[in-house]
Amino acid sequence: MKSDEFTATKVRRCHIVATEPRERIAFDLERLGESESGLHIVLEWVARAPHLRVETTVSIEELRLIGELPSSEWADWEDLIAIHDEAVLRSLVEKRLLIVQGSSADEADQSSRDSHWHRTSAVAHYASRWQGIDIEQRDREFKEHAARKVLDYLGPPPVPVRERVEPAQRFRLPPAAPTPFDALLLKRVTCRNYDRSRELGLAEFSSVLFRTFGARAVVETAPGVRLLKKGVPSAGGLHPTEAYLLVQRVEGVAPGLYHYHPIDHALEPIRSLSAEEASELARRFVAAQAYFVDAHVMVIPTSRFRRNFWKYRNHAKAYRALTLDVGYLSHTIYLSATELGLAAFITAAINEVDIEQAFGLDPLEEGPLAVCGFGIRAAERKEVEFDPLHAVWLD
Ligand SMILES: Cc1cc2nc3c(=O)[nH]c(=O)nc-3n(C[C@H](O)[C@H](O)[C@H](O)COP(=O)(O)O)c2cc1C
Repeated sequence: MKSDEFTATKVRRCHIVATEPRERIAFDLERLGESESGLHIVLEWVARAPHLRVETTVSIEELRLIGELPSSEWADWEDLIAIHDEAVLRSLVEKRLLIVQGSSADEADQSSRDSHWHRTSAVAHYASRWQGIDIEQRDREFKEHAARKVLDYLGPPPVPVRERVEPAQRFRLPPAAPTPFDALLLKRVTCRNYDRSRELGLAEFSSVLFRTFGARAVVETAPGVRLLKKGVPSAGGLHPTEAYLLVQRVEGVAPGLYHYHPIDHALEPIRSLSAEEASELARRFVAAQAYFVDAHVMVIPTSRFRRNFWKYRNHAKAYRALTLDVGYLSHTIYLSATELGLAAFITAAINEVDIEQAFGLDPLEEGPLAVCGFGIRAAERKEVEFDPLHAVWLD
């Protein structure tokens, strides 16, 4: 790690920064006399940049300078302070929006330059990461706040189906001839009840991983360009999505954190955990959604940004392709598990920062986009599952 000590010689604006005017309600004790509640509106400018990890507010003078400082070329500090307010420049350096050559901010900013992120996608991704969020707490607060008037609060939802013509004008299709695939699809019900008393068999665990993430072939299309053939599609055949695992109860596999190697079909141990530690991490990963915590295995599909952006450089659709890749992978986990009589889930309500820290991931390089899990469904249903056709639960 390089020193942040301020010995600026050359500086430049950071590579990616998005600024947004924000209006928020604040409470001020001193204003209690003026207005009854002490509440008042604060208008401020917020700056977001991938290398910052958290958003920062900027003054109007700083905002103006952000728009006037070069990002592609280094400028001499002495030249800048000759024409701009030095205090504002120093403040931007402290906020790591103005990068000092050779500083730790430079290292992080360089990493964001090298990764070829599309600017708006980068801002969206880094602004949506959570740390330490407890969604159950939020749910409780929401329910308390809205009481039984959730619909009053939300208003009516949009209709379930968009209809473009009158029913009589519809061209009705023949029914799909039933095959075992229909039965499989029917049995796929997001599981929120896992059996804590049983271990998942090693063979089943291995099958789900191989069918979803395993490489069936490695093809060198140009010197050094190796594409993987898997059971799921991936933009450009790049398969940039890694599988990181939190194993809790699998026969012959110690509880812990692992990385799955898709070519060797092998686990790479990262950290072993006690049962309590594993359960606590699981809870944190899924933002305290208690009904997912007991899944025998959590699989965290994690995009290796550089692998995708190597080809789709600064590309407006690249991030979308990463999220679509995760959709295919997660659904294949569902189907592979269901076919073996197991059950699965996915959640996007996850604490990305906690996951990155647990697995030792550099967020500028690799980002978890969801948490999936699978295991043995409990005999008793304590938590709600969406099974209107009684495909899994008889009552
Ligand atoms: C992208 C995505 C995110 C989801 N996030 C959550 C979640 O945070 N918590 C949860 O309980 N279920 C989550 N689910 C599961 C859905 O609630 C579930 O698919 C839906 O209720 C329909 O049930 P089914 O999957 O059994 O058909 C998610 C599903 C998807 C596709």
